[in-house]
Amino acid sequence: MEAHYPFTLPPLPFAYDALAPELNEKTMLFHHDKHFAAYVDNLNKLLEGHPEYHTWSLEKLCQDWPELTEDIRQGVRNNAGGVYNHDLYFKTLAPTPASTPSGALANAVARDFGDVVALKSAMKAAALGQFGSGWAWLVSDCDGRLSIQKTPNQDTPLPLFPLLCCDVWEHAYYLQYQNRRADYFDAWWLLVDWPRVSQTYAEHAASRSRCPQP
Ligand SMILES: [Fe+2]
Repeated sequence: MEAHYPFTLPPLPFAYDALAPELNEKTMLFHHDKHFAAYVDNLNKLLEGHPEYHTWSLEKLCQDWPELTEDIRQGVRNNAGGVYNHDLYFKTLAPTPASTPSGALANAVARDFGDVVALKSAMKAAALGQFGSGWAWLVSDCDGRLSIQKTPNQDTPLPLFPLLCCDVWEHAYYLQYQNRRADYFDAWWLLVDWPRVSQTYAEHAASRSRCPQP
């Protein structure tokens, strides 16, 4: 999301019931229209009285929040992260049959994990191993090397390049899966929009040329 203040809620790119049965309509409705929307609204309210930050991009807010004035510092950390993370989460879901990584991403998965099964296993371990609320991530670094990360609360893995994220806050799955985070992860995995993730990885290749050289 390249935007800056005032932030807007991106519409869900498919119908609320389009991901059923893996993620049902009620789960999607509450997650997108209530939780995601609240992060957008809260971030705008925090920044409203601080025009000095209105030109900051979402990525800059997520990364440089320690530089903000103390009165909004923690709030912006939480809510800018909430906007960034949910934006990627909903963009990388699709109501299409499961596919696999393609192109440069497929080669990178083979190089860094061995195969897609090993990638899923590593990401699932991160999702289940995140104590409390947080996220599991597939990211690439400046060299295009892939890794799995996990972050607590609404922290992001920036400045690494996020490719895919699984929301393991209970609000992402509790209405449907209750405490069964592993079942939720397996269902979520079936909905990953691999063509989109592969495209994002290819786009990041252009950015990587701007990474600082050692
Ligand atoms: Fe969420």
